[in-house]
Amino acid sequence: MVTFPIVRMRRLRRTETLRQMVRETTLTVHDLIYPMFVVPGEKQRQEVASMPGVFRVSVDELVRDAEEVARLGIPAVLLFGIPERKDEWGSEAYDENGIIQRAVRALKRAVPDLVVITDVCLCEYTSHGHCGVVRETPSGFEVDNDATLELLAKTAVSQAAAGADIVAPSDMMDGRIKVIREALDENGFAHVPILSYAAKMASAFYGPFREAAESAPKFGDRRSYQMDFANKREALREIALDLEEGADMVMVKPALAYLDIIALARERFEVPIAAYNVSGEYAMVKAAAKMGWLDEERIVWEILTAIKRAGADLIITYFAKEVAQRLRAQ
Ligand code: PBG
Repeated sequence: MVTFPIVRMRRLRRTETLRQMVRETTLTVHDLIYPMFVVPGEKQRQEVASMPGVFRVSVDELVRDAEEVARLGIPAVLLFGIPERKDEWGSEAYDENGIIQRAVRALKRAVPDLVVITDVCLCEYTSHGHCGVVRETPSGFEVDNDATLELLAKTAVSQAAAGADIVAPSDMMDGRIKVIREALDENGFAHVPILSYAAKMASAFYGPFREAAESAPKFGDRRSYQMDFANKREALREIALDLEEGADMVMVKPALAYLDIIALARERFEVPIAAYNVSGEYAMVKAAAKMGWLDEERIVWEILTAIKRAGADLIITYFAKEVAQRLRAQ
């Protein structure tokens, strides 16, 4: 017989109804953003080897997939384009008939209520795979910050002109939010919000994405522009700067290994915070589930709930469709 007083925490865990009543964090379909990859051509549907269930699709197929996404109640998609031709300056990123511009026009025509977010970056469009303009230096090469800004601004404006509802710069050049905001405003797109990839780490978790987007750097790496993942004060500074420059929402990326930064950002800033549950996080779960080592459905639920509990308002995730399906069934 126990004689000391026991605090009975288990009283409220006895039944699912009780647990539901005291649950502090719940996922909803409105939290989700689904990333999609679009390739040139027609009737293209290529599964990404390291991301089972994720496809690179041509515009016609993209429209069909987006209709399904909208039917599931997912409010937004984030688009990545793989261009026909790559060059040193990433020209197709800001071509009015580029892959993304065509995709956005088709989506806004077919599924007008679906929020279309476009990734603003050059890495999918440059022959060298870097996120900006590359310049040779005596000791190697450099990604030229200021020369890149103008191209990013042109990219954002051309995406907005095609109908993008939100632009999301992911390049990590300094000053880009300011330049993009000014360019949008000057060109009649003052109403288009910027979701800034503010705290974006130089992460190995992007591996599968680079296969999907064919955007791995041909030489060097991204550590001179993406953040050192060891730093959290710097992450907060990046966020503060992007907000000063005019970002409407900010993102922490990747998500799962950076919950501390999401939580700090939530405390410190009043704007909506998005977290990107990136390709490598998806691939790890898929691989373990395929081996029979993890229960995919339960793991996904746990991971996304944790990201929300840490403080994210929005979660960009390749699991969005399965989660939306499960939310429907509840
Ligand atoms: C482009 C970009 C990347 C991702 C989103 N935008 C890759 C990178 O920085 O190399 C990664 C997304 C993912 O891994 O799911 N700069």
